[in-house]
Amino acid sequence: MKTPVAGGAVPAVTSIASDDATTPTLASARSHAAAATPTPREVDRATVQRWLPQLDGWLLPGSAMYGVQHTWPQLYRSDGEGRFFAIVDGDELLSFCATRVVTVHGAGEPFAACLLGSVATAQKRRGQGLASAVLQHALAANAAAAAHTLLWAEQDGLYTRAGFVPGAAETCLVVARRPNPPTNGARLLVVGDHAAAHRLHQQKSMRVDRDLPTMSALLTTPGMTALGLERAGQLVAYACCGKGADLQGHWHEFGGAEDDVAALLQAGMHHLGQTDAIVLQPPWRTGLKKALGRSVVGEVAVAGPMQRSVGEALPACWIDGLDSV
Ligand SMILES: CC(C)(COP(=O)(O)OP(=O)(O)OC[C@H]1O[C@@H](n2cnc3c(N)ncnc32)[C@H](O)[C@@H]1OP(=O)(O)O)[C@@H](O)C(=O)NCCC(=O)NCCS
Repeated sequence: MKTPVAGGAVPAVTSIASDDATTPTLASARSHAAAATPTPREVDRATVQRWLPQLDGWLLPGSAMYGVQHTWPQLYRSDGEGRFFAIVDGDELLSFCATRVVTVHGAGEPFAACLLGSVATAQKRRGQGLASAVLQHALAANAAAAAHTLLWAEQDGLYTRAGFVPGAAETCLVVARRPNPPTNGARLLVVGDHAAAHRLHQQKSMRVDRDLPTMSALLTTPGMTALGLERAGQLVAYACCGKGADLQGHWHEFGGAEDDVAALLQAGMHHLGQTDAIVLQPPWRTGLKKALGRSVVGEVAVAGPMQRSVGEALPACWIDGLDSV
């Protein structure tokens, strides 16, 4: 979950292990692995559909207004691209994680990255090595598709053991609302804006590649406010705050020139009645802080996604909030 400040088409991959009970588990990684635990396997979307209420309970706070389907639509929507890995006992889900392989434009050539998330184990089976086993299975299944895996972790224990290292620090700007910002041209984004917003996204120097249908679906994510700034009949900027149960109060994705984004963020805070807000600042946006001017009242360094790379170092990159899982 990409929640940095508290409070506030998958390529073909190697074949996946079956239910074969002789497949080795991660017993070596866990001294107290449960005896006779079923082995991990890949499961299909229809199967996962039945478990969504369970995953809501395991992965989101009880107070969350939206479930996993709306929080990570790229994984769980019927048009999402998630791959799902689980340990099940009969029909009962014991442990789970999900992945999605994306093309990232960062420093250097575009590269494939596996975004991994929704790691969860049934309460009664925690501490028995199940999540570690599912994680290893998911990593192996995606190994041929991507040399790099990224995940947004709240704690690192499980992931450090699986070879993940802390990610590079990211910067969040704390922005206070200005009394009278120019709000001309700022409005809610409508479906007719999606193609222009998609063009603005694809112009970013660091991004995850998206096609227009994906972008359009993401821009209508429940629990998210998506605003646009129009000048002379053209959409020149867009900005998104919140995403399902995640990133509420955080402006986590925006497109357009720095001055236009800054103007839209100010207008957006008025639109949402925010007196202050967190803006996730992509490292390549070197002029945004200056464009926001005196409304930036703080700056917080937060850990970026944990990363695990095989054979090559992860190039500098940035994953917008709508892509995080
Ligand atoms: C985190 C979680 C998936 C671990 O599942 P598990 O099957 O118990 O994991 P394993 O038995 O393979 O490994 C247990 C280790 O995970 C680590 N761990 C516990 N909670 C963790 C967390 N939230 N994030 C990362 N690692 C965690 C601990 O180091 C623990 O080691 P210990 O038993 O020596 O203390 C499980 O506690 C869970 O479902 N929590 C709720 C959902 C959640 O927070 N998911 C993580 C999202 S980033």
